[in-house]
Amino acid sequence: MNSTAQPSPITPDRRFLRPFKGEAMQTPPIWLMRQAGRYLPEYLEVRSQAGNFLNLCYTPRLAAEVTLQPIRRYGFDAAILFSDILIVPDALGQTVGFFEGEGPRLDPIGSAAQLSALEPSKAHLKYEIIFESVERIRAGLPDDTALIGFCGAPWTVATYMVGGSTSKDQAETRLFANRDPEGFGQLIDILVETSIEYLDGQVKAGADALQIFDSWAGSLPDDQFGRWVVEPTRKMVTELKKRHPDVPILGFPRGADALAQTFALETGVDGVSCDTAMPLEFIKEQLSGRTVVQGNLDPLLLVTGGAALDRRVNKIIETLGPNPFIFNLGHGIIPQTPPENVARLVKLVRGEV
Ligand code: CP3
Repeated sequence: MNSTAQPSPITPDRRFLRPFKGEAMQTPPIWLMRQAGRYLPEYLEVRSQAGNFLNLCYTPRLAAEVTLQPIRRYGFDAAILFSDILIVPDALGQTVGFFEGEGPRLDPIGSAAQLSALEPSKAHLKYEIIFESVERIRAGLPDDTALIGFCGAPWTVATYMVGGSTSKDQAETRLFANRDPEGFGQLIDILVETSIEYLDGQVKAGADALQIFDSWAGSLPDDQFGRWVVEPTRKMVTELKKRHPDVPILGFPRGADALAQTFALETGVDGVSCDTAMPLEFIKEQLSGRTVVQGNLDPLLLVTGGAALDRRVNKIIETLGPNPFIFNLGHGIIPQTPPENVARLVKLVRGEV
């Protein structure tokens, strides 16, 4: 910890937060995107109790339980609120459903005229349920485990609201933005405003850090990347920093590629979560030391395990560990992942094997 920081004696030492104070740690903190999920039998059990995925997100007792499951099993340095980025469109009044084996389905918004059906003033009714989950999770976590709150970035959430589902190239949304940039900008503005309130409430309920998931940041050319990825995220970060200057904010601009440094410098985030495709040397040169780096193990390698996993984990830590760094995957854990490979990964990162 640097000498100017004066933690009160009762402040718990949450290792996850140390890289944000400029510390490069001998063994970096570790958590994994989608660490609560279908690869864990205990998750499947609770999800079946809940009936479906959205019920699980909106039942604080169960959402808290599945958030804590991977912490009990592996002792990660951070828990992430169990929820979904599509809670925001649901809270705004858009019809959202999750279907087994199919992913999410929304009633698509095809034009600016349809934006009037959204009801931002009612979003807090749903958000409050999520804030209750955050409170329960904090109460159930070990003192030294950090809690990460999150939301989707406006661009990525908009791709689901306009496209109605996961799409390969986000064409519907990009066409909307090209055809009617002003109307599309209204949707983005609604998402910026409501996401600020959503994250603010998560911090007040007990989140120590925030992550903004921009999973489709990679689908835009550079000028539009500035307008639809950087600018909305910058607005959110600026306002949240005013309200909560000490709460670190990570961005996950998946696919940003050569624009990752622009993202890091222009949005004001404290850290960048790097996807699997980003070369380690590029991360080291472009991001390390300028921002906290998080990432970027291939989730498929965690399925395979074995010596190849060990080698890559060591390589990542060797390359990125000399600067403030958090170990993570480059994208979410996939359901086929053997839980014992996750246990081995945590041991490897902690230097225990
Ligand atoms: O990381 C965590 O453990 C916290 C929970 C979390 C979920 N989704 C739970 C979830 C987080 C942070 C998310 C973020 C999310 N959701 C993103 C951004 C990150 C990324 O993956 O790119 C996106 C794009 C979504 C939207 C979404 N949610 C899709 C496309 C799907 C279907 C695909 C799939 O994996 O099934 C979901 C469902 C979802 N969200 C599941 C979980 C655990 C699976 C639901 C189930 O149990 O059936």
